[in-house]
Amino acid sequence: MAACVAGSGLAWAIENVAEAWQKLAKLPRANGARPVCITHGDAANLLHLDDGSVTAVVVDPPYADNVQYGELADFFYVWLKRTQGHRRPEWFSTYLCSREREEAVVNLARHRENGALSAAEARERAYAFYEQRMAEIFREAHRGWPRSSGRRTGCCARTAC
Ligand SMILES: C[S@@+](CC[C@H](N)C(=O)[O-])C[C@H]1O[C@@H](n2cnc3c(N)ncnc32)[C@H](O)[C@@H]1O
Repeated sequence: MAACVAGSGLAWAIENVAEAWQKLAKLPRANGARPVCITHGDAANLLHLDDGSVTAVVVDPPYADNVQYGELADFFYVWLKRTQGHRRPEWFSTYLCSREREEAVVNLARHRENGALSAAEARERAYAFYEQRMAEIFREAHRGWPRSSGRRTGCCARTAC
């Protein structure tokens, strides 16, 4: 991405985020809108959802080793913690935001066992971990579907969804 080219890079990102927030902010005020509940946590443990209570599942899942979201998020986490931590201390209770046991990702560095494993062994473990996590997440989504109705699932491959 060219960060400084007019109409792309940072300008593009800010414009898109602002537009998305404006649309989202209108949703709770739309005709017939019901209360919105946003939760933050592991998609494999949606304990607040009853079995069969979900109308639709729309996901933008992590794609193996394509992006190390947890590591990237740590960069922003430490700055947000310093500037906004007092507002939501419960969101910033940990040193970094990486959740090594929760994040569905292929990250070889997490499976090297301090160098005891070769890169090939670590890769095999990393993929197995990712596939297991994704299976747990989709199993949890499946638990939420009503048994009697058709299944409605959306898998979004773009970030602006
Ligand atoms: C393809 S990205 C989604 C990006 C998002 N749609 C956006 O526009 O910013 C996949 C996301 O899934 C998150 N993720 C990975 N494991 C997760 C888990 N166990 N529970 C919830 N989210 C998880 C990653 O941290 C990442 O933010």
